[in-house]
Amino acid sequence: MIIAVDGPTASGKGTIAKALAAHFGVPHLDTGLLYRAVGRQVFLDGRNPDDGGDALAATSFPESLLDDPELRSEATGGLASRVSVHPSVRKALLERQQTFANQPGGAVLDGRDIATVIAPHADAKLFVTASVPARAQRRWLEMSRRGENVTREEIEADLAARDERDRNRAEAPLRQAEGAALLDTSDLSPETAIAAAIALVESQAVPR
Ligand code: C5P
Repeated sequence: MIIAVDGPTASGKGTIAKALAAHFGVPHLDTGLLYRAVGRQVFLDGRNPDDGGDALAATSFPESLLDDPELRSEATGGLASRVSVHPSVRKALLERQQTFANQPGGAVLDGRDIATVIAPHADAKLFVTASVPARAQRRWLEMSRRGENVTREEIEADLAARDERDRNRAEAPLRQAEGAALLDTSDLSPETAIAAAIALVESQAVPR
């Protein structure tokens, strides 16, 4: 069974995707991590994330970079959002994601374009969203726990800028795919959101 989970940053899609993978016993790929690795590699190379050539060169990042804790930072998230607008970068990461999605037994992938581009044939599709204040509050808590000093206003502004870039880019913009179920997690606890996601997947997917 292939499960596609799309949505904006800090919507809860990562937590939900991980829980779905555990529940249905299939592997999980956080595709945002691949774009974050490209963004981080551009930075390490001292190159320009807005230049298509520089960003494409960074897609050959070493596998060990995927374990770099710096990938989770806001700064790397911003770089990821900038390198991800280049069609050449998206193309370079496509095969890896499709191979993961199509492995025997199925998989859960979360990202921005899983149900629209990577796996439009997915058995279940979720579009996970939440209000900007709810997402900013979660991100703020996460960052405060890590000792990062940032205000909620700064986070809200950053989220809004990334949403704008992800939704309005020409190539694979963030949008709810046809047939995808909408799950708004603004007022839901993680447990309630996960239970709702499992129910939505079960209602969509036809057992094989
Ligand atoms: O999900 P996450 O916040 O880790 O993603 C970082 C950035 O990578 C996003 O803002 C988006 O621009 C990009 N991305 C993408 N397509 C995906 C996953 C992430 O363009 N499938």
